[in-house]
Amino acid sequence: MKKGTARKATQLQHLGEETKHEGAVAPPIFQNSLFLFNTIEEMRQVGKNGPGSNRFYSRVGNPSLEVVEKKLAMLEGTEKCRLVGSGMSAISSVILANVESGANVVTIDSVYGPVRDVLTNYLPKFGVTNTFVDGTCADEVIDSITPQTKLVYLESPASLTFRLQDLKRIASACQEKGVRTAIDNTYATPYLQNPAELGIDYVVHSCTKYVGGHSDVVAGAICCSEALLKPIIQYEIGNFVSALAPFNGWLLNRGLRTLKLRIDHHEKAANNVAGWLEEQPWVERVHHVSLASFPQRKLFQAQMKGSGGLFSFEPKIQDPSRLEKFINDLQYFGIGVSWGGFESLALTMPVSLMTWKEPRHLVRVFVGLEDEQDLIEDLKASAEKHLV
Ligand SMILES: Cc1ncc(COP(=O)(O)O)c(C=O)c1O
Repeated sequence: MKKGTARKATQLQHLGEETKHEGAVAPPIFQNSLFLFNTIEEMRQVGKNGPGSNRFYSRVGNPSLEVVEKKLAMLEGTEKCRLVGSGMSAISSVILANVESGANVVTIDSVYGPVRDVLTNYLPKFGVTNTFVDGTCADEVIDSITPQTKLVYLESPASLTFRLQDLKRIASACQEKGVRTAIDNTYATPYLQNPAELGIDYVVHSCTKYVGGHSDVVAGAICCSEALLKPIIQYEIGNFVSALAPFNGWLLNRGLRTLKLRIDHHEKAANNVAGWLEEQPWVERVHHVSLASFPQRKLFQAQMKGSGGLFSFEPKIQDPSRLEKFINDLQYFGIGVSWGGFESLALTMPVSLMTWKEPRHLVRVFVGLEDEQDLIEDLKASAEKHLV
């Protein structure tokens, strides 16, 4: 493949796969923990490049992961990418790499639950403090930065409330103040949003979701500059977080081949389901970034290229037991956490936000690859039984 000339969708099929081992069209799985050298000198040479060579020791790198790392870095527009054992491993590595005793991390109040847990229940024992902000107003985020703040950690859109943060403004203010920025870009995937191009330092993904795409692999990715990645490979990845198994890397590469096709389908189908829901008398509000009614529509259009399959809605009836019955009676929506696979999912939970007077019971919906008409008929039948 001619380097740098092909469009992203073409590169996604071929980048990093130029060498065909035994002519195999799909790269083999390098199911090995270590790599051998012809001489001690050769091994020393590889070691000299610092930690993290993909042909040294599989705790810090492996060729079955390298092919995916090249493709994700290309899509995100970052110098480098490194895969790790889970999305949370990626997130925790980035946070840990940027804090020390006395440091402060600013994040949004609707951040993914386990991240809130790390910041509020785990890191304080090492003297790391946290500040939670609503996040929809860039000035509020910027004004919350103190001399102790080392990292502003974002999640846009947030995966329950789908609120956005103004990435460009926040990144540029943080650069001026010498504060690093990170974002969980799992909702958008690198197809729909490229935060590094807006100035964000670290882009992390739970590849368990759309990148894997088939609900059969747990994985995470860190995309950033080489200078920022090197110490993470040396310390957090090298010493703490779980390595991704070569087979899981291979599964991610297979998932990436159809990422665009799947995202296009999720987007179209979810837009139709969300649009239909918005018209139902038993629905109070739909939280979906691509609806005309989305309060941050301008920002959505400025910083995202489209929307995915995940959104939430507020039913008028807020009785948790009726909402649970509504979910239980759905035929095509699985009940479970996660999202980004082939299957549609639904969950209900109370959500509290700084700007809401009291918790609201939301229904989070993931629109999978089924026929959307079946999904709409399913929602309608269960709602007629339990929500009207
Ligand atoms: C938005 C978001 N970020 C991160 C994660 C964590 O990813 P993983 O389960 O791969 O650790 C999840 C998992 O549900 C998620 O929804």
